[in-house]
Amino acid sequence: MTDLTTTQTDLISQLRAVCGHANVLTHDDPGADLSPWEQDWRKRVKGLALAVVRPANTQEVAAVVKACAAANTPIVPQGGNTGLVVGGVPNNSGTQIVLSMTRMNAVRAIDPANLTITVEAGCVLQNLQAAAENSGFLFPLSLGAEGSCTIGGNLGTNAGGTQVVRYGNTRELCLGLEVVTAQGDIWHGLTGLRKDNTGYDLRNLMIGSEGTLGIICAATMKLYPLPAAQLTAWAAVPSMEAAVQLLGLAHQRLGPGLTGFEVMGQFALSLVEKHYPQLRVPLWQETPWCVLLENSDSENESHARGQFESLLEAALEDGCVTDAVVAENLTQARSLWHIRETITLAQVQEGLNIKHDISIPVSRIPAFVAETDALLAREVPGVRLVDFGHLGDGNLHYNVQAPEGADGQAFLRDNEERVNTLVFDQVAKFGGSISAEHGVGEQKVNKLPLYKDPTALAMMRAVKKALDPQNIMNPGRVLAWHNI
Ligand code: FAD
Ligand code: MLT
Ligand code: ZN
Repeated sequence: MTDLTTTQTDLISQLRAVCGHANVLTHDDPGADLSPWEQDWRKRVKGLALAVVRPANTQEVAAVVKACAAANTPIVPQGGNTGLVVGGVPNNSGTQIVLSMTRMNAVRAIDPANLTITVEAGCVLQNLQAAAENSGFLFPLSLGAEGSCTIGGNLGTNAGGTQVVRYGNTRELCLGLEVVTAQGDIWHGLTGLRKDNTGYDLRNLMIGSEGTLGIICAATMKLYPLPAAQLTAWAAVPSMEAAVQLLGLAHQRLGPGLTGFEVMGQFALSLVEKHYPQLRVPLWQETPWCVLLENSDSENESHARGQFESLLEAALEDGCVTDAVVAENLTQARSLWHIRETITLAQVQEGLNIKHDISIPVSRIPAFVAETDALLAREVPGVRLVDFGHLGDGNLHYNVQAPEGADGQAFLRDNEERVNTLVFDQVAKFGGSISAEHGVGEQKVNKLPLYKDPTALAMMRAVKKALDPQNIMNPGRVLAWHNI
């Protein structure tokens, strides 16, 4: 590796004294391979870490942060490293430490009467869901990366996923946090309180801050009763207008039973069919859009089925659905969801692409899609749109794939900036946000000042300066320091 300064060598010794030799990995260790922590999930960026530090508890995190602050060394918190905006990997300077939270993965407590679960930040989302279910409860956050992402990362990004239409995003599921500040102090905020009006909402400030304000070490999250029955339907819809009309009907007919409403464009589904033919995508060839709906019922399966069938009959009559299948059992339902969750992987198989994670008021989505599709077709001929997402929340993954047969690298080099500007200008025109759920990371750091309200941005900068005056917490993410 590169020559380390005395300060860096001393820091590594101190970190090893805190966490144990084996839990501080460096490039100088024999046979060391730090690439799993240095490479982002989309393989867009490969950083170089000074060290990967793996604390076992909150006290160790606090001691690590104090040592890094004294050595003026930046810290990049990392959970499952499934983030999609280059937020959880180090830059290539060799001066930043990755603080990997995955050893802190315990479920600390479940309080059934308070409907809460308290877990450490490195707990993998799927393990948290399982712990809740084993105690007879639902933890509703659900996303394609749930087998590897952590609740700390979910909180760091304020992740969304496929159940937001009913339960909200991660922020809405959180009641309390334990946080290590940029000075290495511990904030003991693990209350399970649903009401607390004692000043500024620091919990909600930390959530979605992408590791730029502090390290989330543990969280108290909300639990819900397990539904008595859950049904999934896959519907062909003739247009985006029809999909929005179906959403309105579903809200009306299912009320709080509507727990999932995803839209998938024909080209997105064709990629699943092409790269994962064993998955057998229904109805996609006959329609421009498919919708996946979920109905969670607190009574029983026949009640759920009755409600669902009457919804789909009404939708067929209105013409907003042209064909539909309702899963007969859990296995079929899981297969339908699996197709939806595979779109991201199919897109990776197809080659490099430009990812967007935007939100627009639901009512304006049809006009946004029609206008922006036409704009891109005109400005970037041959471009292919991989359009899918959480229509129930007004959140589209409006992704742009290189023309068939084009060199992906060259396409990105020549078009990424221009395509982002075209799409984000459209988002602004339609009153939307350039990030609905993935966050800003490094990828949108230069775009944020162009689209965020200037007063909001000034308040964000003041907060960053006040809480992290040394700029050691995930620098260069969300806000660029030279702008602060
Ligand atoms: P990481 O990638 O490790 O980190 C993400 C960010 O959080 C970084 O800025 C990091 O510094 C910060 N961070 C991590 N841990 C902490 C901590 N303890 N304290 C403070 N900051 C921390 N996202 C969605 O919102 N909805 C989806 O539907 C969705 N689907 C996905 C599907 C696939 C196949 C993949 C690969 C990703 C998907 N994502 C989705 C993106 C990603 O899974 C989420 O952003 C997730 O919340 C990241 O969790 P993580 O543990 O992997 O975090
Ligand atoms: C999804 O909804 O599948 C994710 O947010 C991942 C993606 O955008 O590819
Ligand atoms: Zn998503």
